[in-house]
Amino acid sequence: MLQVDGLCKAFGDFQAVNGAWLTVRQGDLVAVIGPNGAGKTTLFNLITGHLQADRGSIRFREQEISRLPAHEICRRGIARSFQIANIFPRLSVFENVQVAVLSAKGLSRHLLHPTRRLVREETEGILERVGLQDRRLDLAGSLSHGDKRILEIAIALGNEPELLILDEPTAGMSPEETAATLALIRRLAREQGLTILFCEHDMEVVFNVATSIMVMQHGSTLVQGPPLQVRADPAVQEAYLGRD
Ligand SMILES: Nc1ncnc2c1ncn2[C@@H]1O[C@H](COP(=O)(O)OP(=O)(O)O)[C@@H](O)[C@H]1O
Ligand SMILES: [Mg+2]
Repeated sequence: MLQVDGLCKAFGDFQAVNGAWLTVRQGDLVAVIGPNGAGKTTLFNLITGHLQADRGSIRFREQEISRLPAHEICRRGIARSFQIANIFPRLSVFENVQVAVLSAKGLSRHLLHPTRRLVREETEGILERVGLQDRRLDLAGSLSHGDKRILEIAIALGNEPELLILDEPTAGMSPEETAATLALIRRLAREQGLTILFCEHDMEVVFNVATSIMVMQHGSTLVQGPPLQVRADPAVQEAYLGRD
């Protein structure tokens, strides 16, 4: 589904991403791991078009997307959440998701009756899938940190993505919120057939959930493979896991 090759991005003379590669197959749940500053967020920003790569290629469904603007990449089926939740705090939970559903369909809020019902049903369906239906009328700003992050996933789902990219989806969450979020991610992948690419610093989370793990170090890909293979890789143990 997604193939990243030789990707590079510098900020000034600092190489934040420096020869990263990554393969995501349909139905995969791919985790990107690596220490702080390894370039994970920058890699995601390059894939989603929020940053432009200096070099390298990003192919999504066989088509080069590395020169496309973010809205076009989103339209083609890649949606993402940010490391810091990105919601409209003064709108309700329902309205936050509705805005995404409307914009994915290229519609405004002034709708003819049949379309309005369609959008409402789709919005409610998404809120149910993520378990926020009981909070639908609450202001988004009043949600707990964990629920804000879940709402952000719901907003991303409003774009009807084929590939969902999540930047540290459990960051700052309590153990209970983390468990619930992981269950949600698994459910979205298994039951809804979504392909998911996420980065995460909690190793337990990663090895529990991912079907494939890519290890990043100093902006480069060290290795990508199934969890057991990555865990056993001498280079990974030395560079990253060895310290534990
Ligand atoms: N907009 C930017 N300008 C300058 N440096 C940046 C910018 N974004 C990220 N960096 C630097 O690039 C490196 C990689 O950052 P990032 O991709 O956020 O890593 P990670 O998500 O793995 O922690 C870090 O050293 C960071 O300070
Ligand atoms: Mg990051």
